[in-house]
Amino acid sequence: MESKVPVCLADFAQRARAVLPPEVWDYLDGGSGTEVTLEANRSALDRVGVLPRVLTGVATASLRTRLLGREYAMPVGVAPMAYQRLVHPDGEVGLANAARSADLPYLASILGSTPIEQVTATGAEVWFQLYWLRDRGLVTELLARVREAGCRALVVTVDVPVLGRRYRDLRNAFRLPPELVAANLPGGRDDLAHGGTPGVTAVSVTSGAAFAPALGWADLRWLAEHCELPLVVKGILDPADAARAVDAGARAVVVSNHGGRQLDGVPASATMLPEVVAAVGERCEVLLDSGVRGGLDVLRALALGAHGVLVGRPMLWALAAGGAAGASAGLALLADELRDALALAGCADPAAARTLRTVPLD
Ligand SMILES: Cc1cc2nc3c(=O)[nH]c(=O)nc-3n(C[C@H](O)[C@H](O)[C@H](O)COP(=O)(O)O)c2cc1C
Repeated sequence: MESKVPVCLADFAQRARAVLPPEVWDYLDGGSGTEVTLEANRSALDRVGVLPRVLTGVATASLRTRLLGREYAMPVGVAPMAYQRLVHPDGEVGLANAARSADLPYLASILGSTPIEQVTATGAEVWFQLYWLRDRGLVTELLARVREAGCRALVVTVDVPVLGRRYRDLRNAFRLPPELVAANLPGGRDDLAHGGTPGVTAVSVTSGAAFAPALGWADLRWLAEHCELPLVVKGILDPADAARAVDAGARAVVVSNHGGRQLDGVPASATMLPEVVAAVGERCEVLLDSGVRGGLDVLRALALGAHGVLVGRPMLWALAAGGAAGASAGLALLADELRDALALAGCADPAAARTLRTVPLD
C-alpha cells in the first residue's frame, strides 16, 4: 500500500494516520459525542443514488464553476480548518498553494497557525473564516485586516456557540505544541491552548475564552453591513435558518454540521440539503460540507441542488501525507474523479448535474 499511488482520497488517510501522533490524528479524525453524526454524514451520502442520463453527447465534462461571482476550476473549496501546521510544516501556506495551483478557493480559519497575510501572499483566492470574537471592536479590526490582506469573502461560522464535546480529545487532554499559535486571533490567549488538564481539551478552553457564545440575527445583519466582502454563513442545517441568513444579507450558505464535530445526533448535511435548497431558491448559493470524500460525493451534492462543496479532512490527510505536493495530488485526484463522474452521469458541466434526479439507495 505505502509505495503505491493513491487512487482515492481515503488512501491519503492511511498515510496520514501512519505519520501523525495518535492524539493529532484523533483531533482531526474525530467527531463529538459517540460520533453518530460523523457516521451519518457518510451513510447519508452513500444512500444518494444519482440517476445518470445517457446519450447526452458528452465526451469530456467541464468542471468550471462560478461561486460568489468568480470563476473557479471546479465546484470545490478547501474547508476552513484550524492549526494546519499541526499536521505538516507546510501548513496553511502549503494548502493555500495547492488551492491556488488548482484554481480553487482556500478558506482560511481564524484559528490558522499562519498569519493571514502570508496565506494571501500565495496568490490563492482566500475566503476568511470568522468565529465571532467576544469583543466587537476586535471583530472590526480583524475585518479591516483581512480586507487589507486581500481576502475575497468572509465566512462566518455559526454552529459553534461552544465547542462540541469531542470524547477523543477530552480523553487525550488534547493541547497544542508550544510552538503553534493562533496567528490571526487578536489578543489570542495561546497560553490556554497549551495547557494540559486531564479530561479537558485545551483547544476548547482557548475557543471558549475568545469567541462570543450568544450571537443573534441582529449580529449577522451588522456583519453583512460592515464586512464589505461577500458574506457566507457556514453551519446551517435548518431551512428556516437558511432563509433568515439570506434575509440578513448572506450571499451563500454552507449546509454543514462541522463534520460531525459540534452537536452530535444532528442530521447529516446531505439529508438537509434539498430542503435548504428549496427554502432559499436561487436567492443565494448553497454549498455543502461534512462527509465529502471524492468526486462522486461532489456529484451527489450537485444532484441534490448544491452549487458546490467544501472538503475538510481529506485535505488534511493529503497535507499530512505529502505537504503542499500531497495536497495538490489530492485535489488533482478529486478533479479527475469529478470529471469522470460527470461524464458517466451524462453531464457536460456542474450546472447540468444540478438537474439530475436522485433516488434513495437501500
Ligand atoms: C481539524 C479540523 C479543524 C476544523 N477547524 C475549523 C475552523 O477553524 N473553523 C470552521 O468553521 N470549521 C472548522 N472545521 C470544520 C470544517 O470546516 C468542515 O466543516 C468539516 O471538516 C467538513 O467535514 P469533513 O471533514 O467531513 O469534510 C474543522 C474541521 C476539522 C476536521
